[in-house]
Amino acid sequence: MNSSLQDKARELLDGNARRGSGYYYVSPSRRKYPHQWSWDSSFHAIVNCRMGRVDLARDEVSTLLSKMLPDGTLPHIILHDRGLVSPAGRAFRKYYWPQPDRSPLVQPPVVALAVREIWQKGEDIGFLRETLPLLESHFEWLGTQRRFGNSNLVSIFSPWECGLDHKPGFDRLMGKLARLPFGLYIALYTSERRLARLNFDSAEIVSRGYFNVREVLFNTVYALGLEALGTMYSVIGEGSKAEHFRVRGENVGKAILEECYDSASGLYFDIDVRTGKLIPEPSISCLMPIALGGMPKQGCEALVRHLTNPDEFWLRYPIPSVPKSSRHFQPEAQRYLWRGPTWINTNWLIMEGLKRHGYYELADAVAQSSRELVERSGFWEYYNPLTGEGGGEKDFGWSTLAAIM
Ligand code: GLC
Repeated sequence: MNSSLQDKARELLDGNARRGSGYYYVSPSRRKYPHQWSWDSSFHAIVNCRMGRVDLARDEVSTLLSKMLPDGTLPHIILHDRGLVSPAGRAFRKYYWPQPDRSPLVQPPVVALAVREIWQKGEDIGFLRETLPLLESHFEWLGTQRRFGNSNLVSIFSPWECGLDHKPGFDRLMGKLARLPFGLYIALYTSERRLARLNFDSAEIVSRGYFNVREVLFNTVYALGLEALGTMYSVIGEGSKAEHFRVRGENVGKAILEECYDSASGLYFDIDVRTGKLIPEPSISCLMPIALGGMPKQGCEALVRHLTNPDEFWLRYPIPSVPKSSRHFQPEAQRYLWRGPTWINTNWLIMEGLKRHGYYELADAVAQSSRELVERSGFWEYYNPLTGEGGGEKDFGWSTLAAIM
């Protein structure tokens, strides 16, 4: 690990930190994203933990979980400080959100990985006992409110929920509006408004045939989270729960491998639940199952071939959010996100997967390239995979993951 990079990471996380009565979190960026985002916060906590700042990690995760709804929904955005919201923003959110201070949508449940990390570094059994029931309630909510039919996979109701907001595979599903310039933004807000009108009632949303996708990155993180729950329940001596979550995690992993697999390409694609069909649009999500413990050798090899192909994902600064071979590939983010640039959080997830399956050299190459990106350009929201130039927001929280890679 590089200590000067860690110094810079600490400085950034402290600069983006926000404290108030009863809360502490690190905002993704100071200007555009001043609030708390679920998966961003979980990544910040992981970085803080690995840099020995377990208390900060614990506070950030506790703040996040304290805003969980009684039914187990873990909001994707939380507004702790009303002062940071303009009156227009407040009015706007009122139109979409049943509760003015938190989004009714969710994000990939990286939080379980953050809690496991806090446990591993701090060994605070009290924290584990307090936190596990909250995590459990969120994972139960996902397994009941977002699981439909015979599949073990869970659904997202908005592209925002997978965190890869504008990835090209969703275009067709977002309707005609999305084809207008900036239309995807309009389509996203329109679709959230439709969900709000149904009070975010899962059964109603499904029966109306709205956006309903079994997204690969989301489900991979869900499987990893279930596995982490299993490990943590076993630590506190709750054997039957440990077994329950371990088996559930394995079953979700198996379902990804079976249901999302496209034999023609060897990639894993999202499923449009309305038609039951795969959405064959390559993106970084397709590689995510490398993080699953149950991924067989052959499957790993196929993913590694795609990852290391210079016409697809192995560009000067891997790993682009969309492969170069895609007609949607745009190395510089233009109006939409996640259509080509390299993001450090997805690099970290894939690097961990590569290590898990023994691809140490490749994992190291991803780590080195990620560190090079932040060393030469600073901690940007994302990077041009061809030139390494940073884009989007500057001093971006989760890009500090590079310092622990
Ligand atoms: C963008 C990203 C999303 C992230 C949020 C805050 O919307 O697409 O994944 O959580 O910004 O950083």
